[in-house]
Parts: sequence; structure tokens; C-alpha cells
Amino acid sequence: MTTEARAEVLVASNRGPVSYSVAADGSLAARRGGGGVVSGLMALGSGAGTWVCAALGEGDRAAAARFGGTLPAADTGGQSVRMLEIPPDTYDAAYNGVANSVLWFVHHLLYQTPFEPVFDETFEERWAGFEAYNTAFADALAEEAGEGAAVLVQDYHLSLVPRMLRERRPDLRIGFFAHTPWAPPDMFRVLPDPIARRVLLGILGSDRAAFHTRRWADAFAACCSDQLGTGQADDVVAHEGRTTRLGVHALGADAEFLRDRAFRPDVDERLAALRAEIGDRRTIVRVDRTELSKNIVRGLLAYRRLLAERPEWRGRVTHVAFAYPSRQDLAVYRDYTAEVSRVAEAINAEFGTDDWSPVLLHVKDDFARSLAAYRLADVALVNPIRDGMNLVAKEVPVISEKGVALVLSREAGAAAELGEDALLVNPYDIAGTAQALHRALTMPPEERARRNERLSTAATALPPTTWFLDQLDGLTA
Ligand code: G6P
Repeated sequence: MTTEARAEVLVASNRGPVSYSVAADGSLAARRGGGGVVSGLMALGSGAGTWVCAALGEGDRAAAARFGGTLPAADTGGQSVRMLEIPPDTYDAAYNGVANSVLWFVHHLLYQTPFEPVFDETFEERWAGFEAYNTAFADALAEEAGEGAAVLVQDYHLSLVPRMLRERRPDLRIGFFAHTPWAPPDMFRVLPDPIARRVLLGILGSDRAAFHTRRWADAFAACCSDQLGTGQADDVVAHEGRTTRLGVHALGADAEFLRDRAFRPDVDERLAALRAEIGDRRTIVRVDRTELSKNIVRGLLAYRRLLAERPEWRGRVTHVAFAYPSRQDLAVYRDYTAEVSRVAEAINAEFGTDDWSPVLLHVKDDFARSLAAYRLADVALVNPIRDGMNLVAKEVPVISEKGVALVLSREAGAAAELGEDALLVNPYDIAGTAQALHRALTMPPEERARRNERLSTAATALPPTTWFLDQLDGLTA
């Protein structure tokens, strides 16, 4: 590759901005995704950036093979995207075996059976896969990056990349962004030796490591000090003769996109269907991937308790729960998905009547229907055990039509900004969550409207494009 063709700004993430499926006739169909990084990279103008991601499913693999790694601009909306074909076993070890069943669990404090990181005789092999997967990214980035380019590495899947990339290309400016919470030192020690140190050293290969909240940045620095004996002052971690600056960028909701997307005919249609089903009942809405940290089961149990203890709500409220299956290759996530359905059905069996289903559970991902539910919501329930940020909490107030009362876990990153106007709950406290739901349902309309307005302002303070460009500025400053 010539120097001229190399990129000035690169992004690396497991999931890229486009995914492929194979149609019945064998042709490939591209589907473009949205999100903060996509809009940020677009804002740089065409040709300025390159995105390196992994081929995830059969369609992606076919595309990566067909296009020799670099995808056609027609499929990517003009972005330059390199999709890595990683051997399926290596990918499985990295994504399922380490990222989503070990690192994810550690950062989200999931360490009670059956949600626990597994360190059995297969761990060494899984870890080798994780290293190989990170190496593939580091190699590709080293190849694609122009002299002195800025590289923004996203998330826990790629924890080892910054250091690997620095070894290959010391001229680059390397940033890392963690979208998850960061584990406190005692939990981080759950990782076996020397894995904990390798993860930290991997990230310390960056010039700047950034997080959604101050709390997660501080936890990262505390883990570095605990495991590596690093010194830290003024958001600079010193180690091995070099320094890594820490940054905080609280990703906000994309108001412009939401206000446009949420009032299109396909959303109107779904809203009408939901209204027909729910009638004039009040609604408690939740939208999540069925992912263990989202705490969906406790949310349902809190709703059950509300109905049990306050019979006045029976028949007058519907819990609209969208729980979209995620990471279903792993048994523990599949079991959780099944548990969510079981608990919802049990509530319907216990309290339902001929003309009222207390829980309306949908598991088939439908973005337009999620937006319709946001518009309809009287109450939004967002109660994760822990969450890096949680954008649902930020999106609902932006497009809610009635003014939403937000019941929010104090352990979600979003609580740092929304805490004053949300009703904060301890995610483990089912009784407390039931009380908060009652309080939300009975909140006077003027108070709801007032709070909603402030929530919406706080939620949109750092729109995705600015969030992305701020990361870049922080790195290049
Ligand atoms: C959420 C988290 C990210 C994570 C992503 C992965 O968006 O906030 O930290 O990268 O999920 O989800 P996936 O479906 O790709 O496993």
C-alpha cells in the first residue's frame, strides 16, 4: 500500500459499520448500522478515515473473502472499511470464550453462579485465541495507518491492541475507549495471573484511555496501581517510562437522528398497533438485549411485586418489555433469555385476565417498534446491574410524547448525568424498584414533564459526532 493511500484516522472495533447476509440466490446484501462512531467518522469527510472490524457471521465472511478485505464504498456509505477474516475457532475463542464470558463478566461484576467467568482447562486455549484475534487487528491497523495517524481502538474485545500496535508502529497516536464499566481492583483480581496485567498493559499501550464516566476511569487507574504499581497524577498514568492520559467522554443520545427517525410512518404504524393492544392503560417500557447485566428478571419481579402489593394497578398498567436475544452462542445467555420468557409468562398466568396481559414481551428485534414504545412510555425501566453508559435511558426522554418518568439503576453510567431527575434504584433491590415504579406511575404530569425536559437536555449534551471528535481531539491535542 502506498503512503498516500494510508489513513490519517483509524477506528478499530469488533463490530463494524456494515454487516452482510447471504440471500437465497447466493448474492450478498449489505446492511449499514448507525451509532456514534459511524456518524463521527462520517463527519471527518470521505476518505479521511478507515475502519477495521471483524467479519462476524457467514455473510460477513463471504464478503470479506469476495472483496479481499476492503469493502466496496457502495456498501459502506463511502467509508473505507477493512473487514478481517479471522479463523472461526479463533474468533469464537476471543469473542465468546474471553470477551463475553470473562472480561464482560468481570467488568459488570457478574461473578455468581451461573453468571461467572469460567477459568477451566480450556481457558489457556481461549486466551491464545484472544491474543491471536487482537494480533490480527494490530497487524491490519499497522498496515493501514499513515505516518503519525490517530487510531481509536474501541472496547474490551481489543484490550491488547494498543500495546501490540505501539510495538509495530511507535509513530502512531493511539487512543482506547472502553464502552463498558471498569471493574474495581478487587473484582479485577478475579482474572488469573498474568491475564489481569496483560489487559492493563495492553490498554496502557495507548496514549489516551477514555471512559464514559469518571467512575470507570478512576477504577481503571486503581486497577493499574493495584496490579502494576503505577503512579497516577492529574489523570496521567505513568508506566514503563511512558504515560497514558485518562479521559472521560459521556456519550449522549443523538437527538437529531431520533427526532427524525421516530416519527416516520413505520414507527407510527407500530405505535398504532401497540395502542390497539394496550388501550388506555399506563405503560412501563423497557428495551434491552437479553444480556445478563441488564437485570431483566429482577425488573420483571419488581413489576410482579407492584401488582401483588398494589392491586389497584391490576388491569390498569402494561409492562411493555422488549428483550432482544444477544450472544446466543453461549449457553448462559440462552438460558437467561429463556428465563426472561418464563418469568414474563408466569406473571401473565398469575395476574392476567381475559382482556389484559400484564406483560407484553417481544423478543424479535425491531428498531421501529422500540422507538414506538419510547414514544408511548409513561415510565421507562432501566435497571442494569452495571452499565458503561446505557443509551436507552438517554433516548426515551428525547422522543417520549407524554413525558417519561425514568426509573434508573444507580449503577448505570447514565446515572451520573441523569441522576437528579430520574428515580434511582439499587438494581438488586426488587422491593425498592417496585416502589420506584409506583412512584413513577403516580408522578403528577407537570412534574413528569419538567423532569423529562431536564433529562432530555442532559441526555443530549454530548451528541455522538461531538463525542467521537472530542476523543480524537483529546488524542491529538
Ligand atoms: C454494548 C456494549 C458495548 C459492546 C456491545 C457488544 O453496546 O455497551 O460495550 O461492545 O454491546 O455487543 P455485541 O452484540 O457485539 O456482543
